[in-house]
Amino acid sequence: MMDQAQSLRQLVSGNTPRRSPGDGPTARIITVCSGKGGVGKSNFTLNFALALKAMGKNVLLFDADIGMANIDVLMGVSPKLNLYHLLKREAEIGQIIESGPGNLPFIAGGSGMEELFSLSEGDLEYFTSQVTQIADKMDYILFDTGAGLSKETMKFIASADDCLVVTTPEPTAITDAYALMKVVHNTHPETVFKLIVNQAGDEREARLTSDKIRMAASRFLELDIPFLGFISSDSHVVQAVKKQIPFSVAFPNSAAAKDIQRLALSYLSAKPVETEKPQGIRGFISKWLKRNQ
Ligand SMILES: Nc1ncnc2c1ncn2[C@@H]1O[C@H](COP(=O)(O)OP(=O)(O)OP(=O)(O)O)[C@@H](O)[C@H]1O
Ligand SMILES: [Mg+2]
Repeated sequence: MMDQAQSLRQLVSGNTPRRSPGDGPTARIITVCSGKGGVGKSNFTLNFALALKAMGKNVLLFDADIGMANIDVLMGVSPKLNLYHLLKREAEIGQIIESGPGNLPFIAGGSGMEELFSLSEGDLEYFTSQVTQIADKMDYILFDTGAGLSKETMKFIASADDCLVVTTPEPTAITDAYALMKVVHNTHPETVFKLIVNQAGDEREARLTSDKIRMAASRFLELDIPFLGFISSDSHVVQAVKKQIPFSVAFPNSAAAKDIQRLALSYLSAKPVETEKPQGIRGFISKWLKRNQ
């Protein structure tokens, strides 16, 4: 059996099978965000990435939470190197990729996230070419972000192919999720939002929650925001966080694990409209880091 390090080396060296012939370098870039903090973004991102991977997709998980990165804690790994080391040219891209559960490739942004905004043209090109080496082999690149909106986060969210907005049924989470979409939409009207309701009591509560946001977005922003699915409120999630094992691995038969499975399936089966063609990593980086320059 291939060990984790070996499969990562293959990934970076280019021996990983391409998605399908002629697909080209068009990884779909997904950012996961929320208005209110603590709604379950990191748990969702990690387990969603694992579900997509289990469905045969090449997935890269990137922790882009500037202040409080913690996906590594959720999966019980401690990366020695992160984006900072890549940007300082102390490590190559292959060295900063950690292997998570199920061989999920993972990059910790660490303090490198802040460096990104002050890169020289040369350093930006270096960063892009390094990241492209790995990104071009991916179907999906998932970025977990911090809660709320800084100018940087806003550009970041707006540059992705999909922005998955996580909320819970709590009124404060709902209003903050709407506020986030409103602010991003006003400055970047092309942003594609999709809704996820976490910690729902049941499907009905999840739908009621999403309807509130969808109705406000339709009425005041003239935006049709699809509801992608929900994850039940499930004590197994809390237990898994304590164990530092993703809930879908620790408790594969739990309600939350089944929900994430269903959500990933429906994400994959929803046909993106023509205007939602993925732009690939280069398109993403140039939108994100070069816009307004
Ligand atoms: N589906 C769920 N059922 C029960 N508890 C949950 C669920 N999802 C998340 N939680 C609880 O919420 C906590 C916060 O989750 P998580 O760290 O994923 O949120 P976050 O949105 O990433 O937070 P932050 O905004 O600080 O980055 C978890 O540690 C867990 O206790
Ligand atoms: Mg988080």
